[in-house]
Amino acid sequence: MSITPEQLQFDREHIWHPYSSMINPPPMVPVVSAEGTRLRLNDGRELIDGMSSWWSAIHGYNHPDLNRAACEQLGKMSHVMFGGITHEPAIELARLLVELTPKGLDKVFIADSGSVAVEVAIKMALQYWQSLGRSEKHKLVTLRGGYHGDTFGAMSVCDPVTGMHEIFTGVLPKHHFVPRPTSKFGEPLKAADSEALEQVLQNSGSEIAALILEPIVQGAGGMYFYSAEYIKHARELCVQYEVLLIADEIATGFGRTGELFACDHANISPDILCVGKALTGGYMTLAATLTTEKIAQTISAGGAGCFMHGPTFMGNPLACAVALASLEIIKTGQWKSQIKRIESELEAGLAPARQLNSVAEVRVLGGIGVVERKAAVSLAEIQPMFVERGLWVRPFGRNVYLMPPYISSSEDIAALTNGVVEVLCALE
Ligand SMILES: Cc1ncc(COP(=O)(O)O)c(C=O)c1O
Repeated sequence: MSITPEQLQFDREHIWHPYSSMINPPPMVPVVSAEGTRLRLNDGRELIDGMSSWWSAIHGYNHPDLNRAACEQLGKMSHVMFGGITHEPAIELARLLVELTPKGLDKVFIADSGSVAVEVAIKMALQYWQSLGRSEKHKLVTLRGGYHGDTFGAMSVCDPVTGMHEIFTGVLPKHHFVPRPTSKFGEPLKAADSEALEQVLQNSGSEIAALILEPIVQGAGGMYFYSAEYIKHARELCVQYEVLLIADEIATGFGRTGELFACDHANISPDILCVGKALTGGYMTLAATLTTEKIAQTISAGGAGCFMHGPTFMGNPLACAVALASLEIIKTGQWKSQIKRIESELEAGLAPARQLNSVAEVRVLGGIGVVERKAAVSLAEIQPMFVERGLWVRPFGRNVYLMPPYISSSEDIAALTNGVVEVLCALE
């Protein structure tokens, strides 16, 4: 079945797309199906996917194992409330999450989306200190250049400028921001970076509940890779100043950076961990917030007597069953060789972009390849140039980047990297 011109017109007139305007919206690309690494368009053309549907479809589209898990679960039940009821998909998913995530994280809250997982993490940190009678610890500290989601708690810890929520600054709770670490990935920690964080913790640690950060890779705030030593040091400082560490691995979790979790680059465990996006292999929305025995016990022993969160679709069995199937694929470990190969192909394929005048930096880590330009790209101009070349690449700000599915072939990666270089050359 194809999408009719009337349907496209209806879309244009009535439907909000992410970060879109209702005044003269850009044309949408109509997709009718997807298979492996290909998005099939209304007119029969196919695009090679370089985005993994915002970094989630790691195993590719229409995957037989994930399809089977969804169909089998549909035949049993799509949803049942999680209050007072439990079910096997949630139990087995939680078991696997505890097994795969950094050690010590063995209490699982299943959330509806990445942003909700961040809200839950923030709430856990606040409730932890409240339960200890230390409700003065109610602020957060975070890094400039971060992005944690679109809901209000999450927005309050996004970079006030690059985090896309600048217009809400006046109404968001005020938290502490430290500069984005200048120590890049693979580099030792620079004193100025560690001092900046320590200074805030020293001055304001008594009112800070938690440090929240995207370990190693700041995603939507600028596709920036920073030193694992910074994370290691932050872990130590958090212990020293009695501040919880929340690792937002919604973008980095499940192998994307070359380690199963970005925290593994620094060999640390956070106090609270958020995962999402690739959790269901990009099939549907689901996320999770994990924490330690100590934090869970403290929250539960506090005045409220329970953790104060419980959305309608919490633990949705259909999403849990698909997530379980996705994690079973992750558990085979094949992601390691896939990411290693993709990393070297991205590095080789994007290298020529370093010669371009318009390019500030090319950087690659795991399954992420970024060409940062000196000036912002015009999405309206650049997006059709990729579609014309049979590629799905969606740049933002100054970044033209690739985050392809792990199953991408060498030919797919070559087509994507050649396309990026060609388009950037054409824009010189
Ligand atoms: C690091 C990080 N945290 C949180 C989110 C929000 O997740 P969601 O869009 O599923 O709400 C994102 C989304 O891009 C993200 O990259």
